[in-house]
Amino acid sequence: MQPRHFLSLADLTRGELNALLQSASELKRAHRQGHQNTSLTGAVLAMIFEKSSTRTRVSFEAGMAQLGGSALFLSPNDTQLGRGEPIQDSARVISSMVDIVMIRTFRQADIELFAKHSSVPVINALSDDYHPCQLLADLQTFSEHRGSITGKTVAWIGDGNNMCQSWINAAMLLDFNLNIACPEGYEPSPELLERAGARITLHRQPASAVDGVDLVTTDVFASMGQEAEQQLRLEKFNGFQVDHTLMSHAANNALFMHCLPAHRGEEVSAELLEDSQISVVWDEAENRLHAQKALMLLLLNKA
Ligand code: CP
Ligand code: NVA
Repeated sequence: MQPRHFLSLADLTRGELNALLQSASELKRAHRQGHQNTSLTGAVLAMIFEKSSTRTRVSFEAGMAQLGGSALFLSPNDTQLGRGEPIQDSARVISSMVDIVMIRTFRQADIELFAKHSSVPVINALSDDYHPCQLLADLQTFSEHRGSITGKTVAWIGDGNNMCQSWINAAMLLDFNLNIACPEGYEPSPELLERAGARITLHRQPASAVDGVDLVTTDVFASMGQEAEQQLRLEKFNGFQVDHTLMSHAANNALFMHCLPAHRGEEVSAELLEDSQISVVWDEAENRLHAQKALMLLLLNKA
């Protein structure tokens, strides 16, 4: 049987995504009440990281341990992947020894190639194009604070990057509106925008994108791999900081999200990030743990 992969949100149906989000909240409750769920006893997760991580590594490793399994941290410094062993060969070998794999890397095509040659499920733990695991946690967080996101309006402020593109996929799946404000030249993929249709609108002014919305979200101006562009991007994204003034254009009970790590004083003001009435960034981070446990259970047919 072909393994079930999670390479972008588009690998889930609307029904599966809603069930996964519910399961994530139930796993969170059970974990807090001290109930053990050891459905993945003996299972091994291989974690391939070609970029840095705090949240992703800790949440996958802790999540697997809590479900009775274990996790291997594999960095390019230590594996033959880092010395040029073909992805196809690495996928065949690694997947013959473990039950599930997660990969954080640059090219989405590399994750797809690995998945094609893997005999076990592969999870995209961030590529230059998508960060679907973060969206699971963010959608769980919205629903825990405000209920269903369907029919609501979200504003994305900043770079049309992997997080923005994952929000577009989420808008298509759960049927909400997404207003994107980005500087010229930093838009998300035109093909993706076309597929998403009228529920997505592009803006040049952050205030116009935020007008009346239920949620405002942003991310760093320069993502991992774009460090050399940091200075240029600081100039291009001038005026795209999310702060209390910008939030005042949103609906009264609008939330603020950021996948973290955040650069205070760049894409978000320190005051907004720490305003617990509006900012739910710490819940998003914690929910990575619960959402990914639900994801692994789904992919391993234990949901
Ligand atoms: N949000 C997120 O993926 O964080 P890390 O880079 O720390 O894993
Ligand atoms: N867009 C950011 C997200 C980090 C979690 C990056 O790719 O670096």
